Amino acid sequence: MTHSKIRPIQLDDLDSVTEIEQYSFPNPWDQSIFFQLALSGGRFPVDDDTVVIMDVMGKRGSVSGYVVWEEYGEDKHGHILNLAVHSSHRNKGYGQKMLSHSLSSMKSSKIESCELEVRESNHWAKHLYENAGMTAVDRRVGYYESEDAIIYALTFD
Ligand SMILES: CC(C)(COP(=O)(O)OP(=O)(O)OC[C@H]1O[C@@H](n2cnc3c(N)ncnc32)[C@H](O)[C@@H]1OP(=O)(O)O)[C@@H](O)C(=O)NCCC(=O)NCCS
Repeated sequence: MTHSKIRPIQLDDLDSVTEIEQYSFPNPWDQSIFFQLALSGGRFPVDDDTVVIMDVMGKRGSVSGYVVWEEYGEDKHGHILNLAVHSSHRNKGYGQKMLSHSLSSMKSSKIESCELEVRESNHWAKHLYENAGMTAVDRRVGYYESEDAIIYALTFD
């Protein structure tokens, strides 16, 4: 199904991604971050050891969701930085599919563990991570200024 194909972000996707980002988060990422990721074909090398990866789901220019994660080669560790689905496509399994995609990609890159932060009140996101086998391991007080972050972690088999 074309709508659920997962692929690297392209420049054509920027408006679509920014719209989802602004709707989804109280402190959305600036479009310039997505621009940098799109310019680098969705694989942005931060330094010799670290790469930030962004894949989107959907047709060119009409994205239904995206996932962004970081891989640290030497530590063999991953960090999911962003995950969002367009409001009209939520609760159709897309979030779960993109999360699985990022975890599988990390495993293919020999990453051994990963983590992420989520707002304490973000019930559906926490449900999604727990379904994927992730465990709440810590809390960062005031991480989102007015709200704590819960840290979810997973060690790959
Ligand atoms: C969190 C988010 C990515 C989930 O994406 P999604 O595509 O709606 O999630 P899925 O359809 O894959 O659902 C995953 C699970 O959550 C449940 N779920 C998700 N949203 C739901 C809703 N609104 N009502 C009922 N169940 C819901 C699904 O039933 C499913 O559970 P199950 O497997 O036990 O049946 C999406 O809600 C979103 O973009 N939220 C705003 C951005 C955000 O909070 N991102 C996470 C930052 S840490």
